[in-house]
Amino acid sequence: MRRGGRGLLPAVLAVAVALAPAACGAPREDGDAVRVGFSQLSAEGSWRAANTASVRAALTPEHGFDLRLSEDEQKQEGQVAALRRFIAEDVDVIAFSPVVEDGWDQVLREARDAGIPVVLVDRSITTALPDAYVTRIGADFRAEGRRAGRWVLRNAPGAEVFELQGTLGSGAQVGRQEGFDALVGDAVVGAATGGFTRAGGRDVTAAALEAWPGLDLVFAHNDDMALGAVEALRAAGRRPGVDVRVVSVDGTRDALRALAAGDLDLVVECDPQFGDQLARVLRRVAAGEDVPASTTVPGGVFDRSVTAEQVAARAY
Ligand code: AHR
Repeated sequence: MRRGGRGLLPAVLAVAVALAPAACGAPREDGDAVRVGFSQLSAEGSWRAANTASVRAALTPEHGFDLRLSEDEQKQEGQVAALRRFIAEDVDVIAFSPVVEDGWDQVLREARDAGIPVVLVDRSITTALPDAYVTRIGADFRAEGRRAGRWVLRNAPGAEVFELQGTLGSGAQVGRQEGFDALVGDAVVGAATGGFTRAGGRDVTAAALEAWPGLDLVFAHNDDMALGAVEALRAAGRRPGVDVRVVSVDGTRDALRALAAGDLDLVVECDPQFGDQLARVLRRVAAGEDVPASTTVPGGVFDRSVTAEQVAARAY
């Protein structure tokens, strides 16, 4: 497979483009497959598992890919090691979901020097390195935070809000917090990270209820933490969705079920099933074709009007 030259790419394309679902193309000869090294975060929860499943389903040999998946358990050092392995294997494209935004310049310089293009999957990075990566595909985290904040402004004026943050320094935490706080930051009485896990959400909410007994709304940066918060609220004798409202991000089936049951109040959608779009982007990058600087995966909002059919239809 011919490797793409970054010089062909436009310097900056600010417009986010939602690509059409990929036509995965005709079957390829083995030798022709696009060799993709993908470092995934894993170990977070149901959103991440659905994202991995979607990528695996799209990047198959039948669709012309040789996928080398590294499950790196939310560890930056594991991801850096995986990227170095991919460089040593001389893959055609490196894809990765960076656990945090900072600290990638050295390994991305190594990839650039090796002539291997890099695609960010889901999460974003901050970097001073020119041409550190070719493109990113993922959600608009700030817009998600704004959607949650808008609901709080309209439906819970005067609420004391606790912000259950995702992994500190991750694109999803930074963006969702910035978007939310820009609208209702004055209402936030406390914040702490639950690391995007259900157990983290439960433990941090339990501690928050002791530190801020008057809090009456939790904004969780993802569904797994929100469901953990619901457990903690019940254990503390507070009724989720009644005494303490809960707003979340993702849109997993479990969260929509909790929304329908009245335990959650709002779920902002973040769709993990963009494997087909990723496949299309990777094929173009590997072929040296121009791609947009970013592809935004669209998402909606679910409130208590969510139907049983919508819950049942949820694939993750
Ligand atoms: O980066 C996307 C976030 O990461 C999802 O909201 C969360 O569930 C995942 O772990």
